[in-house]
Amino acid sequence: MALVTLKEVLKKAVPEKYAVGSFNAADHSVAEAILEVSENLGLPVILGVAEAHFRYVHLESFVPFLRKRIEGLRTPVVLHLDHGLSLDSIRRGLDVGFSSVMIDASSLPYEENASLTRQVVELAQKYGASVEAELGHVAGGEGDLTDGTEPDPNVYTDPEQASSFVEDTGVHALAVAIGTVHGPYKGTPHLDLDLLAEIRSKVEIPLVLHGGSGLSKDDFQNAIAKGINKINFFTECSLEAVQAARAVLATGTPMSYPDLIATTKSRVREVVAKQIQIFGTRPLK
Ligand code: 13P
Repeated sequence: MALVTLKEVLKKAVPEKYAVGSFNAADHSVAEAILEVSENLGLPVILGVAEAHFRYVHLESFVPFLRKRIEGLRTPVVLHLDHGLSLDSIRRGLDVGFSSVMIDASSLPYEENASLTRQVVELAQKYGASVEAELGHVAGGEGDLTDGTEPDPNVYTDPEQASSFVEDTGVHALAVAIGTVHGPYKGTPHLDLDLLAEIRSKVEIPLVLHGGSGLSKDDFQNAIAKGINKINFFTECSLEAVQAARAVLATGTPMSYPDLIATTKSRVREVVAKQIQIFGTRPLK
């Protein structure tokens, strides 16, 4: 069975220093593009559905559909709820069949974040699912298309807190704030790699980098060398798909809707394949 949890898919990534890509889908064609790339390359992937995108799908049908599709694949795939915001939405996600969930309580004070994360870990255990949480705060919204966000160093992850957070919660993967933002960047991003190295020296579980779109190949490879194991990447796939649609529609050639979707899907496949190669993802076995 190809459906796995973060614990399984990232277990070699920490000692072997590589990352697995986490790509979000809010419709069947993007999900299919991501899964096809994973299958074609023979490499694992994390397929995310963000709570912010639940409004685009019928979750109770969409997630079981994806689960069934993944179970038929040869490559290991995690079906991950990205940025779950409450215990209720996490429970809903686990009930519909995600194999992994993220609780994002990163805007709350440490104690509240830790307490909610602990409850999610206990709940997820009953479903055999893995849990990611965030400490420090990565700014910017999912699907944010403003002129860009600037990271705030005041809310970067504190390495000592990261160590106690992992101990206090039993979480399986930790998203860190080291200079990335969701959506477009204002100016050139600068990752705090020394901070990342310090966090890595105090925490043994996989570390997660949100806000992958807009970073350079060097940014990714430096972050991976210093300890990042999961990279979330969404905005660029979305923008590239729209760009591909605009380009083909601008030709004025008559086109069916399925052909339009095939065009955008093909562009998403290219973007995802390129990122997986940059992340240095390796086969699980
Ligand atoms: P980008 O949309 O900036 O790539 O970030 C994706 C992300 O972090 C999803 O959780």
